[in-house]
Parts: sequence; structure tokens; C-alpha cells
Amino acid sequence: MFEKLQPAPPDKILALMAQYREDERADKVDLGVGVYKDQDGNTAVMRAIRAAAKRLHDEQTTKTYVGLQGDKDFCAAMGDIVLGGVIPDDRLRVCQAPGGSGALSIIAMMLNRAHPGATIWISDPSWPNHIPLLGGAGLTPKSYPYYDAGTGSVRFDEMMATLSGAEAHDIVMLHGCCHNPTGADLTVEQWEAVADLCREKGLFPFVDFAYLGFGDGLEEDSAGLRALAQRVPEFAVAASCSKNFAVYRERVGAAMLVGENASAVDTAFSQLLSVTRSVYSMPPDHGAATVRIVLEDPELRADWMDELEGMRSRMVTLRRDFADALRRASNSGRYDFIAEQKGMFSRLGLTPEQIDTLRNEHGIYIVGDSRINIAGLHHDKLDDLARAIVSVAG
Ligand code: LMR
Repeated sequence: MFEKLQPAPPDKILALMAQYREDERADKVDLGVGVYKDQDGNTAVMRAIRAAAKRLHDEQTTKTYVGLQGDKDFCAAMGDIVLGGVIPDDRLRVCQAPGGSGALSIIAMMLNRAHPGATIWISDPSWPNHIPLLGGAGLTPKSYPYYDAGTGSVRFDEMMATLSGAEAHDIVMLHGCCHNPTGADLTVEQWEAVADLCREKGLFPFVDFAYLGFGDGLEEDSAGLRALAQRVPEFAVAASCSKNFAVYRERVGAAMLVGENASAVDTAFSQLLSVTRSVYSMPPDHGAATVRIVLEDPELRADWMDELEGMRSRMVTLRRDFADALRRASNSGRYDFIAEQKGMFSRLGLTPEQIDTLRNEHGIYIVGDSRINIAGLHHDKLDDLARAIVSVAG
């Protein structure tokens, strides 16, 4: 059965993570995989999640199946955080999913049932797993221009020109905030323009929301999505709790569908649940139950928001101070964009050879497209790092 198979190409982010773990140099620096790290380089369990997990352990009375939708109260709380107050309850349906990737997959498979092989427009560049994941669901990936490496900002006019050529029932993948891998986000006005274009042309917005709370704040980060929600009749959101609740390995996410009316969204949601049944049946409970406990308990929720805000503001400070260190090292403003961008990632604009040199000679791990994880920076070593980068970048 396996004879004709060829080895699958490794995922470049996960391969780099494995390579970093094997490196025995004490002063190695991990700017690769997108996990938040504190100033000591640890990805800690958040205080509120630890308390919720203890409570769950003490109070849970059964491990019997929950159901296709997963934890309904988790779903309601997630719908509220992401879209609360914008979409009437009867137009929104939420299903728990195994991580943001699970949410992306089941929505993509459901959309492929609606329009088999539909075109999905993905930003150039995007998270490297978008194309395999969405293409694997049967959709047809195409790319729209997004990032201008020269200015560190969005090529908005070119993006709009390309999307103007899209056809009705095409899907437009958007990053909710903290664009991965560039950190360059749309402004609220740009979200509004994209939403108007989608409505006029009958395009379906599909929003990957993996970094809520990491950009400008929990409320602020969904401003673009909320503007879109007020302008289009139907769209989908894949939300992840991996980063903002730091529950990466628990696989906690939510798939959200918004329809024109209750009957339309109920039909689509029944198809979404039928997809989950055919793929993994039901989502894992534990992580989502801890997130639900945090969101329902006012004290835990306040503590979670406080800790999340601390993570966000640490990344903002690191961005500012790293841009300053690079200005000192390069005697130029060529890296100033790092201070302006949002969330965990920015791209340094290095070549693959320069990235190899950084890894081989300096123990600095950067994804092959020159994406760095801002949270991996060590505040006391910013000048050393900046000098190493400038020494290879020339
Ligand atoms: C990343 O972009 O590094 C994260 O989303 C982790 C992953 O699964 O790739």
C-alpha cells in the first residue's frame, strides 16, 4: 500500500522548531515558531488557565461524549468575545474545533461542499500552512498581493485591484489581526473597503483570527472584523485560543458562521457539524472547558485579561527597543517598520543564505522567509542580536 508514496516535504516552521531543540549551544536564540515566550524564554501556563484546570479536575463528574458542537457555553463565550454585539444571535453559529487549524479545516471543507473547488484568495505572503490546509480541503488557492517589503506596509491598492477581478462565490481569506508572517495589518477603513468589495461582488470573507489580543488590545483587535461584519451578509471566522490563552497543545479553537438569516446559517451549520462527524467526530473537551471556565468566572477572566495585556505590552516594548537597537547597529532607519507592525511577527527581509549564516554561526533561528517571533527576543540582548543581523545583512 505504501510503495508509491514519496516522503512528504517537512513543514518549515515545525522542522525549524525540531532543529532548534537539537542545537546544544547554550546561547542559541529561538525566533522561529509562533509561541509566546516571557523574558526568561518560557511559555508558561497562564494563571487563570491553571486555576481553571484545577477546578475542572476537582469538579468534573464525567468524561462521557459532549457532542458534535463541543462545549456550547465555550462556543457562546467565544462568539461573544469575537463578534458580540455586532451580529444578532440568530445569524451566528459557533462550533468548537481542535485549534485554529481545525476550525480553518472544517470551515474550508464545509465551503467546499457548498461550492466544490471554489477559489480561495490568500494574501501573498501568508501562514505557510494556509495553502496546504485550504487546498487539502478541496478549495483552489490563489494569491492576492499583500506585503510591500520596501515600506513594511500593505500593498492595499494592488490587493484591491486583484480582488476586483474575483468572481461571485470566491472566498477571500483575511487575517483578523497581527498578520502572519508580516505583522502588517489592514486599517479599519481598509477593512471597510474590502467588505464593500466583497458585498458588491458576492465574495465570501473567511477570517483567520489566531492572535486576538496580541496587537492593540482585546477590543481593538476585532475592530476590522466588526466593521466587516456590519457590511456583509455572510462570512466565517476561524478563531484560535492557542496564543491568547497559551493553550497551544490543548488544541482549542472555534469555527464561526454568520448567515443572512437563521434558516440559512442553520443549514450551513448542519453541514459544518456533518463535516466534523465525518473527520474527527467530536472535538477534545479539556482545553475548551478550561477556557470556558476562565471566560465565565469574572475574577479569572479579569486575571486572564490582565496577563494577556502584559504579554501584549511586552511585545510592543520589544518591537520599539529592537527597532532602536537595529537603528544603532545599522546606522539607518531600514528596520523602523518593526516598531510599527503588530503582534508576534515581522519579516527582516534577509535572504535564505543570510538566514542560514545566522543559524550556523550565531545560533539564531529564523523561519526561512525571514520571519522573526518578536516574543522570542531577549530584552537584554537586543544590541547583540541587532549587530549579528546587520553583520549578515550587510
Ligand atoms: C506559527 O505560525 O509559527 C504558528 O502558527 C505555529 C504553527 O502551527 O505554524
